Amino acid sequence: MGLSIGIDVGGTKIAGGVVDSSGRIIARVRRPSPADDAEAIVDEIVGIAKDLASSHEVHSIGIGAAGFVGKDRRTVLFAPNIAWRDEPLADRVESALNLPTIIENDANAAAWGEYSHGVATNAESIVFVTLGTGVGGGIIIDGQLLRGSNGFAGEIGHMNLIPDGVKCGCGSRGCWEQYSSGTALVRMAREAAMEAPDRAQTLLSLAGGNPAKITGRFVTQAARMGCRVARKAFDQAGRYVGIALADLVSILDPDMFVLAGGLSEAGSLIRNPAEEAFMDQQVGGDYRPAIPIVTAKLGNNAGMIGAADLARRAFDGIR
Ligand code: BGC
Ligand code: NA
Ligand code: ZN
Repeated sequence: MGLSIGIDVGGTKIAGGVVDSSGRIIARVRRPSPADDAEAIVDEIVGIAKDLASSHEVHSIGIGAAGFVGKDRRTVLFAPNIAWRDEPLADRVESALNLPTIIENDANAAAWGEYSHGVATNAESIVFVTLGTGVGGGIIIDGQLLRGSNGFAGEIGHMNLIPDGVKCGCGSRGCWEQYSSGTALVRMAREAAMEAPDRAQTLLSLAGGNPAKITGRFVTQAARMGCRVARKAFDQAGRYVGIALADLVSILDPDMFVLAGGLSEAGSLIRNPAEEAFMDQQVGGDYRPAIPIVTAKLGNNAGMIGAADLARRAFDGIR
């Protein structure tokens, strides 16, 4: 039964899998992403697809890519955290493998994965938010993935949250991504640790005393051990999540929010401040049904599963 390859291309890793029509992954490959070398990423993707296609009879390929994917689902026009500019990715992969290929934005693909096979199978309208290297969004309203006139809808990580704020990889300033991504969490923790080393002792000792060696894992670990600076970094990142979700409620009125990505794995550390700010800020909060903020169920696999499903729908005549 229709096997497809799903590939999730992020700023730090590329993960590919052979996925069956029930969303089960039957083979997988994972490699680091050479994000600053446009050619090398394409080569990695082609290599992964060839590996998977050599051992399974697949019919199509779906790729979730962390950037602005054109409406025809063939080209990545721009990517804030990857070196791609006007990259004809679908053509490149098709000519190397001779299999029909589509691209979708990585967060859109992951949203589709959670909607078709994950935590949101009973929902009609969801806003999927991934807090990873960047902040991405996938919006499904009344069962339809929102793509917009150019294919760029759902770029929620670049909402202008803070006027004249921190410079973003997209060229703008103050984007939400600069306050709630994994990268932002580390930056905020490093800054705070340099400013008040006495309050960051747990975090600094994990990082061998060197603020530059602070990683996301260390921030999570230190926060769980009660480190004030690490907790504050989570509080800040989470608060911005809550504020942004409150705005998204006003615009989209979803059944639920689905939180994914590295930061969501920190659980209540990010969820509590996010929920608190969300409850404070949402319009008509006391007079509307509560909108649950749930954690993604497919974890790192959502993009792969969603991209494979979108490819199957595009090429296997479903729908
Ligand atoms: C990009 C999005 C992507 C998100 C998550 C953002 O910086 O603009 O296209 O979905 O990161 O990878
Ligand atoms: Na998106
Ligand atoms: Zn931006």
